[in-house]
Amino acid sequence: MKLLVIGGTIFVGHHIVEAALRAGHEVTLFNRGQSNPDAFPEVEKLIGDRNSDLSALEGRSWDAVIDTSGYIPKTVKRLAELLADRVEHYTFISSISVYKEFMKPGMDENGPLLELEDPDIEDVWNYYGEMKVLSERHLDAIMPGRALHLRSGLIAGPRDPMDRFTYWATRVQRGGKVLAPGRPQDPIQIIDVRDLAAWTIAMVEAKHSGAFNVVGPDYPLTFERLLNECQSVTRSDAEFEWVNSDFLMNKKVIPWDEMPLWNPCQGETANMIYYLAQSNQKALDHGLRIRPLADTIRDVLAWDATRPADQIRSAGLAAKKEGRLLTEWLANKEQG
Ligand SMILES: NC(=O)c1ccc[n+]([C@@H]2O[C@H](COP(=O)([O-])OP(=O)(O)OC[C@H]3O[C@@H](n4cnc5c(N)ncnc54)[C@H](OP(=O)(O)O)[C@@H]3O)[C@@H](O)[C@H]2O)c1
Repeated sequence: MKLLVIGGTIFVGHHIVEAALRAGHEVTLFNRGQSNPDAFPEVEKLIGDRNSDLSALEGRSWDAVIDTSGYIPKTVKRLAELLADRVEHYTFISSISVYKEFMKPGMDENGPLLELEDPDIEDVWNYYGEMKVLSERHLDAIMPGRALHLRSGLIAGPRDPMDRFTYWATRVQRGGKVLAPGRPQDPIQIIDVRDLAAWTIAMVEAKHSGAFNVVGPDYPLTFERLLNECQSVTRSDAEFEWVNSDFLMNKKVIPWDEMPLWNPCQGETANMIYYLAQSNQKALDHGLRIRPLADTIRDVLAWDATRPADQIRSAGLAAKKEGRLLTEWLANKEQG
């Protein structure tokens, strides 16, 4: 197939391009040529800006497009309008953040969606999920029956610039007393980017449409099991100290970014309680295959070891702050 990838040079897109090439497809990249411009020297590259200059796409056609970098609904719409007669199929990398609430585990693709109050909003930080919903809707309207929406949760793997999963693998590897947030039995989901990428290509080849939750693994995973797996892969002497969410909230620890994968289940964020506990049954029924978690942990650590030690990581608790919080927590515990 001739595939157009909008983006394709950082993480999710990079792995999708690798999977497409591995499957023997002909790939064209469209991006600004700013991020990782030396990636894929063998592949055709069209330079443009999806928000302002699509001219490089004019007069061309492909079997399918995979859009990994769509965040702003009106620019997704503009791109789809241009491509509607030039591609047969449109894959949009969306997110499980499209759902309105996460009050029960095992929610499928029919869960209620967020609504963007003003279609012109471009504030991705505050309206990420709402903007993905409207983008999906534009695609369904412009290419009915030809748009595939892949709603991922936390994506992990080599090249991940977000570091949320990488934090846990490296933190456990470092060993010692590890601040583990919330409760050991809290649900967690992660999908290996390479499983996501391979399955995306298979779904494009079959020209499936509609929405799919693309989360993993294929069994209920808990925070405790994730940390235990990290420990068994790294054979570290890590000891997990489970610190309750009230304490961390009182100390103003920032969920998700400063404390990756931690979703405090109270107060304003109570509707996030099952954020990482969505149903992936539909994707599994359509052939999604999930590799063992230990493989993801091992490969993330091997990749992380190639990065400069002094490179600032995007997520995770600073070692000093972790030590300070643990000292206070243990002192409180002793006092009962
Ligand atoms: N990470 C997660 O856990 C997670 C979870 C759920 C969903 N997602 C979704 O996964 C996707 C993330 O993919 P990624 O960033 O890893 O993809 P990627 O395709 O590997 O990287 C982003 C690409 O977009 C290009 N780009 C950025 N701005 C552009 C513009 N204005 N015009 C043209 N190209 C542009 C970048 O190249 P240039 O800079 O050179 O233009 C780069 O090639 C997003 O859609 C996100 O919502 C991620």
